[in-house]
Amino acid sequence: MAKKVILTGDRPTGKLHLGHYVGSLRNRVRLQNSGEYDVYVFIADLQALTDNARNPEKIKNSLKEVALDYLAAGLDPKKTTIFVQSQIPELTELTIHYMNLVTVARLKRNPTIKTEINLRGFGEAVPIGFLNYPVSQAADITAFKAHYVPVGEDQLPLIEQCREIVHSFNSLYGEVLRMPEIMLEENDACKRLPGTDGKAKMSKSLGNCIYLSDDSETVRKKIMGMYTDPNHIRIEDPGCVEDNAVFTYLDAFCKEEHFKKYLSEYKNLDELKDHYRRGGLGDVKVKKFLYQVIEELLQPMREKRAYYEEHLDQVYEMLEEGSKKARVEARDTLDKVRKAIGINYFDKM
Ligand code: TRP
Repeated sequence: MAKKVILTGDRPTGKLHLGHYVGSLRNRVRLQNSGEYDVYVFIADLQALTDNARNPEKIKNSLKEVALDYLAAGLDPKKTTIFVQSQIPELTELTIHYMNLVTVARLKRNPTIKTEINLRGFGEAVPIGFLNYPVSQAADITAFKAHYVPVGEDQLPLIEQCREIVHSFNSLYGEVLRMPEIMLEENDACKRLPGTDGKAKMSKSLGNCIYLSDDSETVRKKIMGMYTDPNHIRIEDPGCVEDNAVFTYLDAFCKEEHFKKYLSEYKNLDELKDHYRRGGLGDVKVKKFLYQVIEELLQPMREKRAYYEEHLDQVYEMLEEGSKKARVEARDTLDKVRKAIGINYFDKM
């Protein structure tokens, strides 16, 4: 039986950080290694350009960084089709067809777009391409006949928009497009990893990220400077583990085996939390433990990254191969879409 298709992507606007890793990347690697799915992962450079048209160099450079992050984190081009959005022109034509099925008013009402327009201060001066990117995202998803789209919660309105397009298209022209479903991360800590400053979200613009490519000393400094419970002043004071970023990170990253290795006085995270709540456990000790846990994750990534940085030609070849392969699938969908609309004038009778 044909495997179910999983598709997801990232905008290349910077390096990937721990929030990306627990929110999505780690799960992709698991899905890839399960062997149960056809996995497509792509770099959404066209989407990134919709608000960076005047800065294409940034997107070009980030594309390389994201590709390196993918490989470092364990995406394997032998198992996953890794490709670049702009290299699949079929996506652009699909977007054109879908644009006729969506109103400007509906796009402006899309909560994700609404927030992003406000964040960027676009107002009425929003570029058409930016307003339209949910439609282009629907093309990405449908072109590869995705069953599941693993993304963060903030993307829910975009998947909803895609589902509306699929519904409209299929109602008008016949059942051609597959209806996708969102695949959400279940662990709360992973859904929205806070920044090192304890703010709601790890994000480049807030400057509170730990990057997958940070060196060991940078990671140490960032972790030792992390936000904890402001009322936990002396070691003896009882502490709070809720809204305490250090514990949220432990929720997202640590496993029982880490305790055996690095902090054997405790069996698991519950015991550590209990001690913190009671008082008598200092922040420094918890942070050092977190540092070891994160280092165990990042060190092998740094090694892989270093290898590929030395062999960039292999990275671009991998993207080119992936894009060729992806294009075949997108072409198939586009042919079906053209036929359904009836603009396949020159097909042989
Ligand atoms: N919007 C996604 C992000 O900001 C990137 C993206 C583009 C995407 N097209 C997609 C994600 C299709 C999933 C499916 O990260």
